[in-house]
Amino acid sequence: MTPKPPKPLTDPIQERASFNATESKIAIAGHPLHAMMVAFPITLAFCTFAADALYWWTGDLFWPRVALWAAGVGFLVGVLAGIVGTMELLAVPGIRIRSASWTHFILAVMLLSMLGVNWIIRLDDAAAAVLPWGVLLSTVTAGMTAITGWHGGKLVFDYQIGTQNDHRDPP
Ligand code: HEM
Repeated sequence: MTPKPPKPLTDPIQERASFNATESKIAIAGHPLHAMMVAFPITLAFCTFAADALYWWTGDLFWPRVALWAAGVGFLVGVLAGIVGTMELLAVPGIRIRSASWTHFILAVMLLSMLGVNWIIRLDDAAAAVLPWGVLLSTVTAGMTAITGWHGGKLVFDYQIGTQNDHRDPP
């Protein structure tokens, strides 16, 4: 019996090239647009929660109007940031291939749905919507924003997603 011919040698770095291709494509001078945009929904989700709490405490009708605008702008900029993030996810092989990116996507879509509902329930009567549903939704949404934002940071700081990685060691 003749021995099998040995497998030809391959270069693992060459083979896993797409694994390390994590550099952002939706970016300005290498700085990811998504990271610039998410600051708005994150901040405004917490502002909505703060405005609801202040209305509950003071009864001042100024706060439900603040909450209405914060919830609406937070949702709309969040959707834009989500579209940019999804383009990045689909366009960059090293982002697409990591399951953590898809976990972030699922968390973000759940968050965006909640941000949208939290805005829509206020459109008719911003003050009447605060108790109990507005405050309840903005509390859950603030928590969900913290989780999604933390996870987004994990993508960047743990997996170097969106970064240039010319000098990274092979996996
Ligand atoms: C709907 C779909 C979304 C997708 C597909 C997505 C995807 C991504 C990707 C690929 C990154 C890595 C950086 C980059 O390449 O831009 C990232 C980072 C991040 N994402 Fe998202 N994202 C989405 C929505 C959101 C939302 C709604 C938030 C708001 C909480 C968010 C918060 C973050 C944060 C805080 C970072 C880290 C940014 C940094 O520190 O540089 N993402 N996301």
